[in-house]
Amino acid sequence: MTLLCCPVCQEELTQTSNKKSFECANKHMFDKAKQGYVNLLLSHQKKSKHPGDTVEMVNARTAFLNQGYYQPILNSFIDIALQNQPYDTSQPGILSYLDIACGEGYYTAGIHSALCNSFPMASPKLRSYGIDISTPAIKAATRRHKEITWLVGSAYQLPFPALSLDLASCLFCRVDYTEANRVLKPGGLFIVATTGVKHLIELREKIYDSLKPDTTTEDLTEVAGLTKVKEVRITAPATIEDQSMISNLLLMTPHYWRCSPSAQKQLSQQNQLSVTIDINFTVFKKNESLETAKCRNPNDSL
Ligand SMILES: C[S@@+](CC[C@H](N)C(=O)[O-])C[C@H]1O[C@@H](n2cnc3c(N)ncnc32)[C@H](O)[C@@H]1O
Ligand SMILES: [Zn+2]
Repeated sequence: MTLLCCPVCQEELTQTSNKKSFECANKHMFDKAKQGYVNLLLSHQKKSKHPGDTVEMVNARTAFLNQGYYQPILNSFIDIALQNQPYDTSQPGILSYLDIACGEGYYTAGIHSALCNSFPMASPKLRSYGIDISTPAIKAATRRHKEITWLVGSAYQLPFPALSLDLASCLFCRVDYTEANRVLKPGGLFIVATTGVKHLIELREKIYDSLKPDTTTEDLTEVAGLTKVKEVRITAPATIEDQSMISNLLLMTPHYWRCSPSAQKQLSQQNQLSVTIDINFTVFKKNESLETAKCRNPNDSL
């Protein structure tokens, strides 16, 4: 059983008996790739032939994240998810989590494992999904965790029914709050991560003549039916002592495309770079109406 719905007609998608495809009641069919992911992105949802992160960007991100430089971000994300669980983990049932714009799955896999390990015995099962518009990213994600359902799809038209998820996240990508709110259950949580003003400031100082003033003044307390319940800022130092990892870091950020070729070259010749990690996590809760709360069947997925 999955929670997926057909991107064409929104009917429920079920696995075919040979488990090789998903199909809806209207016979729209989506095959699983050999790596195990499913492509639910329709051609009209693409703005280019190969949307999202490229193979080079995905490989750079995987290589950099595998070195553990961003482990403090993952640890904070896990702490936040564990401290704010919107469900009763002592009850059996099925919990559902979606990572929107999951990239190559470092955080998705990390949070999935941490949540599963935190549940007491005979408590809920966690069903996790990662979705990204980039096929290379999702191919790489399939190598991070086999139990997670990996999907190529759009953050703006999530192939999930309304009110179907307990927990969602979106890290370092433009957020569609209305769409996230639609798929969350009442009381469900949405964790958003954005970069802070000091994030990688040392790298930015090296590649730009001057830094733009910070214009990220957006302070959302209520957005599209979601209410901010917590904000956490984490800062940590990181020293990168490897030329190739410095290049990988640049390649996985938007600065790669913005900076001049000479700045790129100069940075790639550096053997060591100390940077600041500065990340803001914002936790939103979907407004819970009394009616829905009362109607919830404890035997249903939570
Ligand atoms: C900066 S990366 C972050 C990836 C991942 N969340 C992480 O932190 O490692 C942004 C990701 O958003 C994806 N993306 C961009 N536009 C998207 C969209 N409309 N729908 C889904 N994913 C999208 C890109 O392909 C890329 O993998
Ligand atoms: Zn259909």
